[in-house]
Amino acid sequence: MRLDEVRREMQKVEVQIQGGPKPGAPDQISIFYDIVKHLDPNGLIVEIGTYKGGSALMFSLMNPQVRILTIDAVEEATDYWDPLTYPPGHNIREGRLLPSGILPENLCRGKIFQVIGFSKDIAQTFNWRIDFLFIDGHWKYEPTKIDFESWAPFVKPGGWIIGHHYCGEAYEHEAKRAIDEWIAEQSEFYWVGEMELMAVIRRR
Ligand SMILES: C[S@@+](CC[C@H](N)C(=O)[O-])C[C@H]1O[C@@H](n2cnc3c(N)ncnc32)[C@H](O)[C@@H]1O
Repeated sequence: MRLDEVRREMQKVEVQIQGGPKPGAPDQISIFYDIVKHLDPNGLIVEIGTYKGGSALMFSLMNPQVRILTIDAVEEATDYWDPLTYPPGHNIREGRLLPSGILPENLCRGKIFQVIGFSKDIAQTFNWRIDFLFIDGHWKYEPTKIDFESWAPFVKPGGWIIGHHYCGEAYEHEAKRAIDEWIAEQSEFYWVGEMELMAVIRRR
């Protein structure tokens, strides 16, 4: 799908990707597109933080062949679900609580597979190589640091990581601090840029 077609499809879904285009700057959709569109169709995306599957759907529109493993602790991540932003039942649709939280119309496209659980637990038994790792789970310092430490080693040489919640006072700079500290200790990974609340990183 072309970028404008992906944008059009994403307008239709309930959960949209943040970041309107700023004049002269890429928005989030185009940043993802430049990476995901060019991934090996036999490759693997791992996403931490499914929510309703908006970004997973977007990746599958950009590259329908690539496998997408998306992880979410769903409402077990109780300290994430701030009751003001996400009132109880925010995952209820048509009168029923979806066991995964993901909306069926998002899950049924492409090659999306959802795993329910805490990212740090799933990393312990994981052993595949990742082409693109999207870390969009918790924005607090500790879980962000744990996600980078436990998941980045699975990224292939030449593979990508995007860490969300980077910069921005809304996140109290917690994810930023964790990511800055993590990358300062890495020789295998290099910094590509800070774009639209996201840290873009690549493996050598
Ligand atoms: C920002 S939302 C993800 C949004 C989604 N990527 C999108 O763009 O459509 C963050 C999600 O991460 C989940 N989460 C938070 N901490 C987690 C953890 N430690 N392990 C797994 N999921 C977690 C929450 O339940 C929430 O659904």
